[in-house]
Parts: sequence; C-alpha cells; structure tokens
Amino acid sequence: MSLDVLLIGSGGREHALAWKLAQSRSLGRLYAAPGNPGIAECSEIVALDTASNEAVVDFCRAHGIGLVVIGPEAPLVAGLADALTDAQVPVFGPTAAAARLEGSKGFTKDLCTRHDIPTARYKRFTDAAAAKSYLEDTGLPQVIKADGLAAGKGVTIATTKAEALAAVDRCFEGDFGGPGAEIVIEEFLEGEEASLFCLCDGERALVFGTAQDHKRAFDRDRGPNTGGMGAYSPALCMSERMVERTMREIIRPTLEGMREIGSPFRGILYAGLMLTETGPKLIEYNVRFGDPECQVLMMRLDSDILPAFLAAARGDISDVEVKWSARRALTVVIAADGYPGSYRKGTEIARLPASSETMRVFHAGTSLDGEKLLATGGRVLNVTATGDSVREAAKRAYDAVSDVEWDQGFFRSDIGHRAIMVEQE
Ligand code: AMP
Ligand code: GLY
Repeated sequence: MSLDVLLIGSGGREHALAWKLAQSRSLGRLYAAPGNPGIAECSEIVALDTASNEAVVDFCRAHGIGLVVIGPEAPLVAGLADALTDAQVPVFGPTAAAARLEGSKGFTKDLCTRHDIPTARYKRFTDAAAAKSYLEDTGLPQVIKADGLAAGKGVTIATTKAEALAAVDRCFEGDFGGPGAEIVIEEFLEGEEASLFCLCDGERALVFGTAQDHKRAFDRDRGPNTGGMGAYSPALCMSERMVERTMREIIRPTLEGMREIGSPFRGILYAGLMLTETGPKLIEYNVRFGDPECQVLMMRLDSDILPAFLAAARGDISDVEVKWSARRALTVVIAADGYPGSYRKGTEIARLPASSETMRVFHAGTSLDGEKLLATGGRVLNVTATGDSVREAAKRAYDAVSDVEWDQGFFRSDIGHRAIMVEQE
C-alpha cells in the first residue's frame, strides 16, 4: 500500500520529519507546505496557505492525501486536525481541544490537580492586582507564565519582587495581554530538566524517545531563553526506571484525564520534566515534537515512521513497534546574530558540509534566491550527528559546524556538555 502524505511546517523539525518520511516503504508522494530548501530536497513543496484550514482541506481532497502530518503547534491549536477529521482526511496531531495541553497552561495545571499529576504548585489569575497581592506574601523565586502560546517568551523566573511584579504587568499589558489574558504563578522547581516524547492514539502511549534541550542562547546556560539552541538524545538522566515512573505518574493519568473530558489525545505528547529530589514533575506539555529535539530523535529512529504515525492517526497503536539505535545523537543550532531578539534576514550561506551516514544538516530558517542559499530565520541550521557516545556525536557535529561558511550566525559551543562529563566519570 502506498500513501500520499502532506507535511505542514517549515522548520528544522519538519526537515527532519520530511527526511525520515521520505525513507518510508509505504510512502507514495510526499508534499510539504510551506517547506524550506532542505525539505524541498525530500518532498514536493506546494503553494498552500497553511494558516487556512479550508485551503489545507481542499488540497487534501484534490490530491487524495492519505495522511497529514502537522509539525508546529499553532495549526493544532487553531483546529487544523479537527477540520481534516471532519473532512475524513487522516491526520497525525491532536484536535484543538486536546492541544489545550500546550495552548493553555491553566488548563494543564488544573488537569494535573484533578489527577494528582506531580507538577509545581500554582495559582491562576485573570487580574494583575490579585496576582500582585499574591506575590506580596510568597517567597522567591517565583515563576510567572502567560497562559497561552508565547513562542517560549511567556515565562519569567523572577528572583526579585520587582522582577515578579514587572512580569505580571508584561503578561497583562504586553505581548501576551489583551482581553481575557490569564497568568499562572507557580513554585520554582529545582533539578535536571529532560524531555520525554510519547506517541499517543487517544488511549495508549508508546515511549518515543528522550532528549535534553539547551534553551538559553549562550554557553553555560547564559543569556535569554530561546526555542532551543541544541539537543542530544537519549537524555542520560532518563533511565528506564525514570521513564517508567513518568509514564505511570504523569503520562498515563494525563491520557486518561483527556479521555474523561471527551478530548482524547492523539499525536506526539512532549512532556517537559524537572527531575526533582522527590521524583519527576511536569513543567509543561507540548503537543508536537520538540524543535530541535525532533532532529536528534529522527537520527536515532531505525524504524519506518509512517506506519507509526498512521496507526496513531487511526486511533490504535497497539501493534506499533519502533526500534531505536543505540547510537547517541546531538544537534547544534546555528542561529542568526541577534536571535532571539531582532536579526538580519537574507545573508548568504556560502557553503554547507556534505551530509553522510553520521552527519546531516537540517534547514531551519533558510530560503533560496536562485542558486543562493539565504538565512531567513532566527534559528537557521541544525548540524546533527550521531556517535557511539555523546562526546563522539558532539565532535562530529562541531567538526561539521566549522565547515559551514556563514559569518552572520552564532552557536553554543557546549551542547551536551553535562552528558559528556557524566560519560567521562
Ligand atoms: P516553558 O515555556 O514552560 O517550557 O518554560 C521555559 C523554561 O523555564 C523551562 O524549560 C524551564 O527551564 C523553566 N521553567 C518553567 N517552569 C519552571 C518551574 N516551575 N521551575 C523552574 N523552572 C521552570
Ligand atoms: N525545543 C523546545 C520546544 O520545541 O518547545
């Protein structure tokens, strides 16, 4: 059986997905929108307004699409999966109601309370005055979060009262404000952070890898938060026991809770965890693969991904088996100078190293001008490599980074440093 697939998205995560989907034995044609020059090497880019659910549905009908894979969170929260399901087009990704796990922090926190899922203690506020008066009586640090999607910019870890109060103002007045604005103030958790990915069919969850991201812009975890400057997989701190405990205490109760309220979760559930002294606690959920975590997961996945996605879309993954390579994978993000603030667009990338079995460069924010490859995004390239150890994967990735000819970018030079230290002990 061969299946025509439409992939939605234009980042490094989607390039990695396109690369992996293109290797599927069950694939007919692979279409992608909006795509990027890397994705174009493994699929047919189609001109399609991906912000319009109707346009996507029309395209799928006209082209007999057998599965839509949605990469980013925004179309999920905007109900693209619902529109496709209504039109009887199979889709990998949750409905808008299930995507509230990422789209509303308050929703997720309340679910955790109802089902005894370990997470930071919290309170929800819809008004700045009440939030500020609460802060008067609580210790520091406090974590202040805008309720909705904020592209990684909605979280402040306040170590002083003044910072906390300013964060509350920003949430209600600034970028995330407006009518109906809501915030969550929560306890600061200490420990090591890790990510767990699960393939879900509404009822069951299958572990789909672990990873560790590096969210700060600069070495030694300094500088502003970003979408992620690099990652490696598997996360050394996610032992088999820790994964099993997280499944038992966090993931399975979440799926049950979502079923109970009539919003079963299908797709990839990404749990951002803090491994505290008292066990794993949920920091946040995302309802899709991480970017750049997806890139390292795809490099380690030895199975055909399309049957797994299709089974989840159809609501039964009980027969899905996936094999992971024992190799480590690591990715270094090269971002445009200035990111996550403002940055120049349209500078030329003169040369990329050739991909090999153990190294490939995923495109995250690039476009073509004739033959010229231009940097057009904040995060531009994901130089991704595998090795028998994190150290070896890092060496390969950084060797390749030094072969990239592009002067207007920067990268962290310490991706995987913690894991490499543990390996050496
Ligand atoms: P989020 O957007 O929820 O992933 O938060 C961004 C980052 O803020 C996380 O990756 C954590 O490093 C940090 N963070 C969020 N919530 C907490 C918390 N309750 N305690 C400590 N760190 C947190
Ligand atoms: N790398 C973090 C994220 O995808 O949300």
